[in-house]
Amino acid sequence: MQDNVRPETMERITTEALANAFIEEQLAALQAQIGDKKVLLALSGGVDSSVVAALLIKAIGKNLVCVHVNHGLLRKGEPEQVVEVFRNQMDANLVYVDAVDRFLDKLAGVAEPEKKRKIIGAEFIRVFEEEARKQEGIDFLAQGTIYPDIIESDGVKAHHNVGGLPEDLQFELVEPLKFLYKDEVRVVGKALGLPDSMVYRQPFPGPGLGVRCLGAITRDRLEAVRESDAILREEFAKNGLAGKVWQYFTAVPDFKSVGVKDGKRTFAYPVIIRAVNTKDAMTATVENVPFELLQHITQRITSEVENVNRVLYDLTPKPSGTIEWE
Ligand code: XMP
Repeated sequence: MQDNVRPETMERITTEALANAFIEEQLAALQAQIGDKKVLLALSGGVDSSVVAALLIKAIGKNLVCVHVNHGLLRKGEPEQVVEVFRNQMDANLVYVDAVDRFLDKLAGVAEPEKKRKIIGAEFIRVFEEEARKQEGIDFLAQGTIYPDIIESDGVKAHHNVGGLPEDLQFELVEPLKFLYKDEVRVVGKALGLPDSMVYRQPFPGPGLGVRCLGAITRDRLEAVRESDAILREEFAKNGLAGKVWQYFTAVPDFKSVGVKDGKRTFAYPVIIRAVNTKDAMTATVENVPFELLQHITQRITSEVENVNRVLYDLTPKPSGTIEWE
């Protein structure tokens, strides 16, 4: 059997009982592999890294060191949820790194999408490396690699791997989810007691809100993306769309338009809403969101979010648009 091929005998994990069997098996395997040594994990709060963390906390407790880097590009409430779930509820050894200013300073004035991605990726590795150096006696690096990451090696989720660490930090890898498909990871996460808001989360790009604050990132537009995204998610959840639509988010472009509020002229940013369905992210169709709901969301965003005076709904399928705007 090759190391990176899912064993043919492996049953698809569809129930809590099968998840529990997988968890028991993995706990034994992880304890045998790791013993009383220490493991480092970059914990973003996404489904995969969260499930790896929960599994390793069960297997080795405080010998797992989770590093959560807040780069300022996460959705509203996410860094707080990571601290609440892992440090407060699961009693994990969690290092929280507030790197917001550092990332935003590096990104200042950079408008080109691929340059922004490179800066975010490189800075992430730098911050993670610094934290890794502060830790004593780490032997292993855990990663939330899942089976689609292995099959589609240039897939959309290369951010899973903290590749690019220097030679002296090349730890032995621990990848307990590497044969699981996404739906199985969710079943395992649920069985491990993670909250639904973490387990059933929609896909979120590695560079986060950085590619939804279009052009050169500014703090005012970044806040407008974060706040409008939170309103969109709240309204989709309330109206039964959260579990139905594959991916939905807002983007804020770097231009202003004229509007009017309380009888006064405004000059502010538009918010673009995108809601799409897809199987593999290669093509996508636009969700037919009820017009009344769009009007209600527009009303909320224009009255609750600062520096915003218009809301647009993106009607473009993929192709010709991509799912993200950058
Ligand atoms: P596009 O915009 O290419 O997006 O149609 C397809 C899927 O990939 C996600 N995406 C990313 N994920 N790093 C990521 O981890 C990225 O740089 C990135 N860019 C796009 C996007 O959210 C969608 O699910």
